[in-house]
Amino acid sequence: MPCHKIQAGGLPHCIGSLPRLKISCSLMIQDRTISTRPPRVYLETYGCQMNVADSQTITSILRRAGYDSIDRPDDADVILLNTCAIREHAEERVLGRLTALARIKESRPEVKLGLLGCMAQHNRAAIVEKASYLDVVAGPDSYRRLPEMLGEIGQIGFDPAVDVRLDRTETYADISPDFGGGVRAYVTAMRGCDRFCAFCVVPYVRGRERSIPPTDLMREIRDLASRGVKEIVLLGQTVNAYRYDGTDFGGLLKMIARIEGIERIRFTSPHPSDVSESMIEAMATEPKVQPHLHLPLQSGSDRVLAAMERGYNVAQYLDLVARVRAAIPAIALSTDIIVGFHGEAESDFDATVSMMREVGYDSSFMFKYSVREHTRAFKLGDSVSEEEKQRRLTALIAIQEEMSLDRYRALVGQTFPVLVEGPARRGEGRLAGKTPQFKTAIFPGADDVRVGETVNVRVDSATGHSLLGTALL
Ligand code: 5AD
Ligand code: SF4
Repeated sequence: MPCHKIQAGGLPHCIGSLPRLKISCSLMIQDRTISTRPPRVYLETYGCQMNVADSQTITSILRRAGYDSIDRPDDADVILLNTCAIREHAEERVLGRLTALARIKESRPEVKLGLLGCMAQHNRAAIVEKASYLDVVAGPDSYRRLPEMLGEIGQIGFDPAVDVRLDRTETYADISPDFGGGVRAYVTAMRGCDRFCAFCVVPYVRGRERSIPPTDLMREIRDLASRGVKEIVLLGQTVNAYRYDGTDFGGLLKMIARIEGIERIRFTSPHPSDVSESMIEAMATEPKVQPHLHLPLQSGSDRVLAAMERGYNVAQYLDLVARVRAAIPAIALSTDIIVGFHGEAESDFDATVSMMREVGYDSSFMFKYSVREHTRAFKLGDSVSEEEKQRRLTALIAIQEEMSLDRYRALVGQTFPVLVEGPARRGEGRLAGKTPQFKTAIFPGADDVRVGETVNVRVDSATGHSLLGTALL
């Protein structure tokens, strides 16, 4: 038997001579119906909320096919990793984890290991070569075939079952995701991206834009409301590019606002160039649409924005911010920024710093540029050194921390309606929830405050990440 060498994630590791599973999964299910239990699947999720939502769809598909979900890999018959390809670092983490999980096969060679999602789509050839112990490799449009693929493994010998075809029509609209409970639920409104920003791998791994029909979304959200969900987060790579027949994104927000039981509506991530008057109007007039907008900037330099092919310049972005703030005065803004994109000079970085200060974001997600194969920027190169990227990132984080602290502290003394989500992370009888602006509020619990309720919380003090207060009962 061959020894499978795993080169990824550091040390080469030999998982020994493993006989491949000889029976297909469907046979295994049949065997088990006679003797024991359904096969058990363990699923680990990496990356964005979209992947979290996809994992709920995957769980739903596998449950329908007779699998049970478990939350520990050690007792699983099938181990799946739903992965992210947005930056190299994300891929390295997954490869390291795969190496660790592959060790389970040393004692239980019949365990099936699968790599799903964006990384599977992005790097299938390299991954199959590096991680020869993989049984399944499935891209974001192939989840419907997972039960079949898991069943194929035994029949095709040493090759993993691979399906990374992108499908322009796949939306999983008919599949109710396996919602894990809670007051907030993610609902995928559209999949894919047509924007092709020069740095970004998403259009290559998630394919073209597709919106889910409003009727399917309404059905899913009504069902979630009947299960106690109070807050919906609509998801899409460019969620505000949503369009289905005559319904645009603003129209969709208004439709969802009519669903009884849903008290709060949020969405992520919009693209600045897809912000329409109809969207702003829906945000300004529908009280259920919360006053928080994540508006990815990426860079504050026109030169870099053009090289990134973002489709807007600094003046247009600032004009948009002014229009949004005029229409929704209570709005909180957050953003994504990349430092060290190819060609970013010190003066470009300074422009990003000025822009951050000018807009005054409540929070920011900041990243070092990571060159991604297949993207338009791949061939340009990577002119900023790792040390310089780190320096710029550290500087930017410090600026945002300082701004966040100022902005959060300015709220001391004010009162906000907070949707109670559960115990605060550092417990001590305290509860946590979000303000309409998506700021975390923490306050002492009381007998008559329950999860899922909205209570008024007066802010007594603040850090740069949370508001500490008292519930006014
Ligand atoms: N390198 C660094 N950050 C990236 N992002 C997307 N692609 C890259 C990349 N190649 C960031 C962008 C995007 C967020 C989700 O991830 O800021 O908005
Ligand atoms: Fe990537 Fe740009 Fe699409 Fe966002 S809009 S997913 S950054 S290509």
